[in-house]
Amino acid sequence: MKDLGCCNITTYIAELDKSDEVRKKCELLLTVSISRFFRDREFWQSLEKKFLPDLIKKNTERINVWSAGCACGDEVYSFKIVWDCLENDFVHIPKLKVIATDMNPEYLDRARSGIYPPSSLKEVKKELQLKYFKRKAGKKLFEVDASLKEEIDWKIHHLLSDPPGSKFDIIFLRNNVLTYYEDLLKKKAFRKILESLAPYGFLIIGSHESLPFETRNLTGIAPYPFVFRKGPEK
Ligand SMILES: C[S@@+](CC[C@H](N)C(=O)[O-])C[C@H]1O[C@@H](n2cnc3c(N)ncnc32)[C@H](O)[C@@H]1O
Repeated sequence: MKDLGCCNITTYIAELDKSDEVRKKCELLLTVSISRFFRDREFWQSLEKKFLPDLIKKNTERINVWSAGCACGDEVYSFKIVWDCLENDFVHIPKLKVIATDMNPEYLDRARSGIYPPSSLKEVKKELQLKYFKRKAGKKLFEVDASLKEEIDWKIHHLLSDPPGSKFDIIFLRNNVLTYYEDLLKKKAFRKILESLAPYGFLIIGSHESLPFETRNLTGIAPYPFVFRKGPEK
């Protein structure tokens, strides 16, 4: 408001109505990047021991993953760590394609750099910290191993626009659209996101979030009220 010389909210709203650029800047200023590695830790254990082995059995060619609203990448690298651990347990492992999107380009730059404060790593087990993170010399910061940075397609993308692909086997849609948007917008975005999920694909929402509408095409996966699986192709 100060930048634009607006002294009250009414004049600022008038500026927002006049300019797409001002509106876009305002939207970016409202984004929140809070995240951490292995947020909802037990889920990640089930992902490694159950959900991914199940998908791999069904899908021998390629697994497509979309981390939607990925912020600074903690969720994406958590997935890459799980995938890397899994590779040791299977004779044949499918190819992996990971698309990680966010509307805030600054967060994506931070994600690409893969550098995190210790607070982001508080749920990472000691042996995984030792294997996948290196302390930056002279700093209280940790960088993810270069191997984890490979084969991630970071993209600017707004969740109210069309999804960045289709037939995703896993979609992480955690702590963004379903928390911050009003009902009508949530439903509109969610319908398209659901269409981009492959048959038998997993949808993971935030542990405090709920689906914006009921759909028979998704089954909840106990014990997690935030994990769903799509049914077969209709
Ligand atoms: C609180 S963080 C969640 C990060 C991660 N998914 C997690 O759960 O740990 C929310 C992220 O969603 C992004 N976001 C919010 N609304 C969005 C939208 N409409 N399109 C794309 N990204 C959005 C924000 O920029 C922010 O990086």
